[in-house]
Amino acid sequence: MVWHGIGDIRLDEVPMPKIQEPTDAVIRLTASAICGTDLHFVRGTVAGMKPGTILGHEGVGVVEEVGKDVRNFNTGDRVVICSTMGCGYCPFCREGNYVQCDNANPNGPSAGTSFFGDLAPSGPINGLQVEYARIPFAHTTLVKLPDEVSDAQAILCSDIFPTAYFGADIAGIKPGNTVAVFGCGPVGQFTITSAMLMGAGRVFAVDAVPSRLEMARKQGAEAINFNEEHPVEALQRLTGGVGPDICIDVVGVDSYHAHQGPAAKLEKTQEQQFEQELQQNNPADYKPKDGNWVPGDAPSQVLQWEVESVAKAGTVSIIGVYPLTMNSFPIGAAMNKNLTLRMGNCNRRKYIPMLIDMVRAGVIDPTLVLTEQEPMTSAIDAYKAFDERKPGWIKVELEPQAQAA
Ligand SMILES: NC(=O)c1ccc[n+]([C@@H]2O[C@H](COP(=O)([O-])OP(=O)(O)OC[C@H]3O[C@@H](n4cnc5c(N)ncnc54)[C@H](O)[C@@H]3O)[C@@H](O)[C@H]2O)c1
Ligand SMILES: [Zn+2]
Ligand SMILES: [Zn+2]
Repeated sequence: MVWHGIGDIRLDEVPMPKIQEPTDAVIRLTASAICGTDLHFVRGTVAGMKPGTILGHEGVGVVEEVGKDVRNFNTGDRVVICSTMGCGYCPFCREGNYVQCDNANPNGPSAGTSFFGDLAPSGPINGLQVEYARIPFAHTTLVKLPDEVSDAQAILCSDIFPTAYFGADIAGIKPGNTVAVFGCGPVGQFTITSAMLMGAGRVFAVDAVPSRLEMARKQGAEAINFNEEHPVEALQRLTGGVGPDICIDVVGVDSYHAHQGPAAKLEKTQEQQFEQELQQNNPADYKPKDGNWVPGDAPSQVLQWEVESVAKAGTVSIIGVYPLTMNSFPIGAAMNKNLTLRMGNCNRRKYIPMLIDMVRAGVIDPTLVLTEQEPMTSAIDAYKAFDERKPGWIKVELEPQAQAA
């Protein structure tokens, strides 16, 4: 699955990957997936992809070959792949801050997180929506899978469950806390799960897609549709005027403002603010067609609602992705409420082994969020259905070794 341009992704024949460094491995993928982050790249709202880059940063597979400095894996091992790479020996990796690794990004220590299938400055390193992939720093990028954990369970632990858990962890959820999760896509669903695992007393779920709110409600979250009620008013009213202790942004730059209901009427200044953000973040020459790859219309909407609704001295945690060009945040309101802000790319390697153990022990079955399994050959249609948030298309697993029926 190759990124050729904004709105232009194709299934291509690509060269077989090879071991380039002694710390590399080559993996035959048995499962991959499509993430909301991939949608930002195809919509162009997170810009800077290099044409020809293989997409995808979620993978499960079998080790084909290892370099001579990979000592903890053998050919034939079943593994889950961390979406981001870390060398395992720099000070950041040794603190568990793998995504700030000094060595994984070929562009140097200040070039940012090294992801599979991501923007040019992140490498680029070819991604995991493919049959075979090269894995740099395999000793930390791979995690061994026990037989009892299926591919379908493991693929959800490559990126989205750990990211959600990280978002809840950095927010410092304590038993009894009230948590509001903005965005009920697949990552939002796991954020709800994670908040509950950490003992949250109440979890609110905010979105406008009924099937996604329904899934949140089934998990035990209290659903708020921002096209039916004002989410800030609803959160205040349902918490006796206090607001949630913690708000977690699981939407990112492709955020929408309300189009119906009491939140739909925007103040002039707010309209101007969103317009300015769209000009900053979106490619000027791109016009979406046929209903796919439409960018969100209010990049800072979730940040504004969260700062407004969170309790005084509360915490806002941000795991939704924003591009480097995004520089608006309601800092004045946040400062005056004594808020704590936490955010970032998930240190997957820190959480994946523990989450795999939880899945093996039966504490959690992550496949409750997996709604579609498609052969790799149907990947473009699967991207389109996920992009449109079609009912039932919450999380899509791709099967790289399967042929279309
Ligand atoms: N930080 C990390 O390491 C990391 C890792 C994985 C994914 N992500 C990011 O997490 C975010 C969610 O990923 P996903 O796969 O669930 O994406 P998704 O696009 O499926 O889900 C986003 C959801 O947000 C909803 N939404 C839009 N505007 C909203 C608003 N104003 N208020 C509340 N909800 C709103 C949409 O209806 C949608 O259901 C993306 O930004 C993705 O890039 C971050
Ligand atoms: Zn992702
Ligand atoms: Zn490192």
